[in-house]
Amino acid sequence: MVSEGQKKMSFLKRAKTKAAIQYNGMMILAVRVLLAKRLPRQKLKTVDLSGKLAIVTGSNTGLGKAMAQYLAEMGATVYLVCRNLEKAEVAKQDILKTVPTASLHLLQLDTSTLENCRKFCEDWAANGGKTIDMLFHNAGIGCPPSPDNLFSPDGFEHMYMTNFLSNVVLTHGLERFFAPDASVIMTSSPGVFVANFSPDFEKQSTKNVLEPGFNYIKTAHPNPANSVVYSSTKLMQLCFARNLMRKWKAEGKGYIAHAFNPGYAASDFFEKEGVKTSLRKNDLIWWFLTWLKAPMPAAEGCKTGVMLAIDKSKKVTDKAGFLWDRMKWKTSTIDLYDDKLLERLWDRWCTDAGVEWSIQPQDSTTVSKASVDEPVTEKN
Ligand SMILES: NC(=O)c1ccc[n+]([C@@H]2O[C@H](COP(=O)([O-])OP(=O)(O)OC[C@H]3O[C@@H](n4cnc5c(N)ncnc54)[C@H](OP(=O)(O)O)[C@@H]3O)[C@@H](O)[C@H]2O)c1
Repeated sequence: MVSEGQKKMSFLKRAKTKAAIQYNGMMILAVRVLLAKRLPRQKLKTVDLSGKLAIVTGSNTGLGKAMAQYLAEMGATVYLVCRNLEKAEVAKQDILKTVPTASLHLLQLDTSTLENCRKFCEDWAANGGKTIDMLFHNAGIGCPPSPDNLFSPDGFEHMYMTNFLSNVVLTHGLERFFAPDASVIMTSSPGVFVANFSPDFEKQSTKNVLEPGFNYIKTAHPNPANSVVYSSTKLMQLCFARNLMRKWKAEGKGYIAHAFNPGYAASDFFEKEGVKTSLRKNDLIWWFLTWLKAPMPAAEGCKTGVMLAIDKSKKVTDKAGFLWDRMKWKTSTIDLYDDKLLERLWDRWCTDAGVEWSIQPQDSTTVSKASVDEPVTEKN
């Protein structure tokens, strides 16, 4: 997490460090996008997952389906949690063709509302509350389902709700079923390198409005592209993993939370209407990726996520809460975020999600005053 040394850095040094991290990030992003197809294949070690239970959201296709397949191959019981059960059944049959012994179960969940996510947790409890060893928050979109409606039924920006806030509700609601060494894995994105938060975003929910500095990087104001809003949701996943690790360590729990960057992987993601027609919205990032058409296979992009869930070695768990990319941890700008900004994010997510869930700082003396960019000004 943030070292004392980093907290004591002068403003100039922090700015220089931040610029260096962002430069590195942009280089990683460029290589991972431009060379996606040509990058050497990563070696995924296999382990025996018999008796282990995994939940994978958005697993009827793309990265989620590929992760479910690896887990099934290693013997795990896998719950394919998808919004469309017909598509999920097709995916199940596909996986069974290569892993005939796979133990696969289908559950319906549309992550675009708080109520659906809460109900999923209640149903899990009502159906016996099985112990969860691995929880993959993978369901995600790169644009709102309809260009005319940016907001979910709860009044949150659609990508924020579907890609991220659902992670908060599900982790909170399912935590009581976690195995002592459970892993929570979030499919983040190279977008983390282009996103950032303003420390003075609202503490209260801002419904049916896009909030600069929270839903998107302030410099994109006033008309952020979908890819920019999306990137914030992916940076939130990384901040969530960091916060969860801080909280769980303080509570003496053995759970692990990781966020990983799959790179540029072939999937239905780039086929969604709002991503394909991105040029009309001046969304150069989505336009470039749909134009380039050179992703790696999803089975390659997902490997880091699977590795993080099954590798409980110290070298991996010590870096839980950091960004993982191609099976290695990388520095990112959140390494410069201080506890106060991270806590502020946590509080806002809990307010939005309607959950009472304390971050429980390890020690009040570790809460510093500075933030990455500007001083925090209290709102509300
Ligand atoms: N592909 C990449 O290059 C890339 C790069 C970085 C990060 N990611 C992230 O990887 C994750 C998986 O994406 P993918 O690339 O594999 O794309 P994908 O093939 O489109 O898969 C996305 C999955 O999420 C599901 N989903 C979307 N909205 C949902 C909702 N409201 N409720 C429940 N499920 C929902 C989709 O279901 P339907 O099939 O019903 O739509 C699908 O199963 C996403 O979080 C994405 O942000 C992808």
